[in-house]
Amino acid sequence: MSAARFYLTTPIYYASGEPHLGHAYATLLTDTIARYHRQAGEEVLFLTGTDEHGQKIQEEADQRGMEPQALCDEMAARFASAWSELGISHDRFIRTTEAEHVAVVTAVLQRLWDAGQIYEGEYAGWYSVTQERYFTEKEVGPDRVDPIAGKPVVRIEETNYFFRMSEYQDRLVRHIEENPDWIVPESRRNEILGFLRKPLEDLSISRPKSRLRWGITLPFDPDHVTYVWVDALLNYVTASGAIRPGADSGNRGFEDTSGSWWPADLHVLGKDIVTTHAVYWPTILMACGLPLPKQILAHGWWVVEDRKMSKSLGNVVDPLALRAEFGTDAVRWYLMREMPTGGDASYTPERFLARYDELANVLGNLASRVTSMVARYRDGVVPNARGEGLSAQIAETLVTFRAAMDSLRVHEALGAAMELARTANGYVEESEPWALHKDPERADDLDEALASMVRVLVVLSALLVTVMPDKMSDLAGRVGFDAAPQLDEAAAVEVAGRAVRKGAPLFPRIESSQAAGEGDSE
Ligand code: MSP
Repeated sequence: MSAARFYLTTPIYYASGEPHLGHAYATLLTDTIARYHRQAGEEVLFLTGTDEHGQKIQEEADQRGMEPQALCDEMAARFASAWSELGISHDRFIRTTEAEHVAVVTAVLQRLWDAGQIYEGEYAGWYSVTQERYFTEKEVGPDRVDPIAGKPVVRIEETNYFFRMSEYQDRLVRHIEENPDWIVPESRRNEILGFLRKPLEDLSISRPKSRLRWGITLPFDPDHVTYVWVDALLNYVTASGAIRPGADSGNRGFEDTSGSWWPADLHVLGKDIVTTHAVYWPTILMACGLPLPKQILAHGWWVVEDRKMSKSLGNVVDPLALRAEFGTDAVRWYLMREMPTGGDASYTPERFLARYDELANVLGNLASRVTSMVARYRDGVVPNARGEGLSAQIAETLVTFRAAMDSLRVHEALGAAMELARTANGYVEESEPWALHKDPERADDLDEALASMVRVLVVLSALLVTVMPDKMSDLAGRVGFDAAPQLDEAAAVEVAGRAVRKGAPLFPRIESSQAAGEGDSE
């Protein structure tokens, strides 16, 4: 039987600015979920990339006195290198200026045009360059600002092509109602259902070249380029390999996506772009005859003093600078553990340090105590004992962890793992290996306690390797494993006889945490 497959995506980031903590969060969240599926033995396609067309990019390039393509080349490289520094395990980095993508967008538009799904009309309305979207009179209000970033909108009146989005309203509502988990969390689903209570308008899908030259030319009118969101959303299909214009299969992909990765299992994105993903995107897919993605996860924003962290607000935190000070895995841990998936979280240095202390004082401390006791009391070899002192807690944690990950509550899954480490520290206190060691009659009890502690470290490495791949591989290595085991094997692995080494602290204490006087050591 072939392995189960899982295809998941991040949004593609505008190539108009540098990656910041908000982008890093979205990508890390997807990475953590991707690693979780790989660790369960599934075959995974994890896609990320850059969104390179549209007015925003053109304006930024003009401002810098650069060609848009040169700006995109530079920014795509920045994103790719940031992701490599953050240990992101994507399988494909797509750029919307790639020939393959341009061909897919062209094929899709031609198909929609041939099917009578696109018509020419007049557009008059308010456009936000920051969001690359039109907003209604009501949405922009008397101040004429976009309702998401609060930036000024511009009035546009022009001839555009429109996609008959309104025809799909009923089908979309039915889909959302019949699939309660299609958009999570529920608050976002309700928001979209609320939006869909009003009549859905048709979608303007083109821009005249007289105003915007940087985009994919419409196959049926050389004077227009494709609206950047239509172009961008299609990246998910391009990378899936469902449609290969010009290949032997022709456009077979529209009728039959088998053999490709389409439909995606999960789109991860921020709450500011739910409408585009949960309304524009599924209706375009319906019109093309393509299946819908199976799930959309909308996460919240990282805010700084209640304002969204964004380049246009000038309040961004650079994830790479934090990484230089605390290490990649500490940044990953903070971002994944601190933000309740779906809610907002506020970035503060204090919270960062508090989460780091958890790593140093709970997990790091446990690892250091256990490895040094095995070294000291049993010459660095795990004794031959069953090691079942914490079996019930391990079993319970695995159930909670899996349930939380499967329902995309990553912060909860990580919280459960950290709780197990806390429990294990309590077990160390209660079993008092230092006292057992002094009593030759209790050698078996000491063996059992030490083996139980090592087992818990192995399980912790398996639980947390998705979020801290380097540190947890290191931890698994310290207790005699080549790599953190797969989740379903972790509780039952043989620990007896493994060679243990202590090594330097996994998460070195930093001055502020010492000053705070928290934690204890062995
Ligand atoms: N290019 C579009 C997405 C197209 S997907 C087919 C776009 N790009 S973006 O660079 O502006 O934002 C990409 C993602 O980063 C969005 O999901 C957005 O929510 C996320 N974030 C940007 N700032 C953020 C925070 N401050 N906090 C959390 N995520 C935020 O939109």
